Amino acid sequence: MNKDFLSIRDLSIYEFSQLLDRAAEVKKHPHKYRRALEHRILAMIFQKPSLRTRMTFEAGMLQLGGEAIYLAPSDIQMGSREGAYDIGKNLERWVDGIMLRTFGHQIAVDLAASTKIPVINALTDLSHPCQAMADFLTLREHKGALANLKLAYVGDGNNVCHSLMLAAARGGTKMAVGTPAGYEPKPKMVQAAREDGKDTGFALTLTNSAEEAASGADAVYTDVWASMGQEAEKEKRARIFAPYQVNARLMSHAKNGAVFMHCLPAHRGDEVTDEVIDAPTSVVYDQAENRLHAQKAILLALMGKKD
Ligand code: CP
Ligand code: NVA
Repeated sequence: MNKDFLSIRDLSIYEFSQLLDRAAEVKKHPHKYRRALEHRILAMIFQKPSLRTRMTFEAGMLQLGGEAIYLAPSDIQMGSREGAYDIGKNLERWVDGIMLRTFGHQIAVDLAASTKIPVINALTDLSHPCQAMADFLTLREHKGALANLKLAYVGDGNNVCHSLMLAAARGGTKMAVGTPAGYEPKPKMVQAAREDGKDTGFALTLTNSAEEAASGADAVYTDVWASMGQEAEKEKRARIFAPYQVNARLMSHAKNGAVFMHCLPAHRGDEVTDEVIDAPTSVVYDQAENRLHAQKAILLALMGKKD
């Protein structure tokens, strides 16, 4: 594998499926790995808030026998007190890996280039690859295989949507993305997914109709309408995205037994109704649990002893 995990694009089709297999194995036999990262330390840099990402990386490192050190936004003040280059050059003298949640994706790229230790993208404005690994692990658990499934993503063509498209390209999963006009996923990410998935059975439909996206889907996924950093646009977005709410009516366009997915945190009553997120077909807490297992597989691949 590459030194870093900044994007799903860091994984070949083979590595993507290997990593999911490893995550499933770690989930089944956690005790086998309880010393796998003994004496290894992960620095966790957060420039945005988090529940799941912080908890699962920290708990994951502890369960693998290592340690994690949390650096809050006010601690190192990346970009104002010190830049990515110097932060990377310092951290590599003390720890074995870095996890970064930040705004601009280039900050993660610059940090990774500055340092010899692995850097893991734990969400940038462009992508959220750890989330997509957990989500595809969850899809595989609930639907048996990734090929020939249809995943509908409804809402904002954002970081989560981008990583899901790149993962679907590797899994051979068909995807339909339904967004308001002007909120489609970035063309360069669409192009990358189509390129990567040209031989896997992947197909991508972009539409401005939530119903068309959800039609016949095995899974319907949504995310918040205003991501972290877009708080000022919250009201404007709430008006634009209202027709894209995932509710029982929209779910009725999907296949019988289709699962509902969300990376969380959810804004209940906005992008999803209580009825849908609390339904037996909702797998949102499985996704949250699988962040732990998927990231343990990533940590083992990047920070473990090389086979
Ligand atoms: N899904 C996710 O990344 O959650 P947090 O923002 O709470 O880490
Ligand atoms: N798109 C959301 C995901 C949160 C996990 C954000 O960037 O805030």
